[in-house]
Amino acid sequence: MDAREMKVKAAEAALQYVEDGMRLGIGTGSTAEEFVRLLGEKVAEGLKVEGVPTSERTARLCLELGVPLRSLDELPELDLAIDGADEVDAGLRLIKGGGGALLREKIVASASARMIVIADESKVVETLGRFPLPIEINAFGMATTRIAIERLASRLGLTGDIKLRKSEDGAFTTDGGHHIYDAFFGRIPDAEALSNQLNSIPGVVEHGLFINMASFAIIAGPAGARTLKAN
Ligand code: A5P
Repeated sequence: MDAREMKVKAAEAALQYVEDGMRLGIGTGSTAEEFVRLLGEKVAEGLKVEGVPTSERTARLCLELGVPLRSLDELPELDLAIDGADEVDAGLRLIKGGGGALLREKIVASASARMIVIADESKVVETLGRFPLPIEINAFGMATTRIAIERLASRLGLTGDIKLRKSEDGAFTTDGGHHIYDAFFGRIPDAEALSNQLNSIPGVVEHGLFINMASFAIIAGPAGARTLKAN
């Protein structure tokens, strides 16, 4: 089974939790896109759902596939969010934001009664941090924000480069008009402490640590999909 097939397996398993009439949070990334494709087929067969997309990219795919969309202001409380992840550990802590949609993903996940993470086995780690942590920042005072991040990281014993994410034409800009620092910490032993402290830096808009947000994860490997619950 190749990586795409595993993503499809995880997405198929998540679709079992979608019920008629649900208000859905719809994630971003290649795994979430497999879910959107399957959801589009169900909608074409008559399933009635309304979705709030976590990015403009996901919104475009939903529109193409006929998945009905609403804004989060129209549907401020959701039944279920389904989204991918860049890393997941045994405590269901996540790193997200590889696709740059972390802010909307976190707002949508927090608006949802439940969040199911869909991923392939390559995303499961013992300790978060191998994947660079995305930190969304306001464009104003980026250098000051960076120094503040470096100082708090150093107090937590975290080292490693903090790089401004680039796109073809300069700094990468999120759907919310912000930029992203990717922090190459390598290993984050205390994700809770890092999360709390990053939230206290004024120029940090949001970060990619999702803690106590996922209800469970569906992890697909060569032998099929399994459910990962917090230990
Ligand atoms: C988007 O910003 C991310 O949080 C994605 O959910 C994450 O990067 C997973 O993407 P893939 O499913 O493409 O690996």
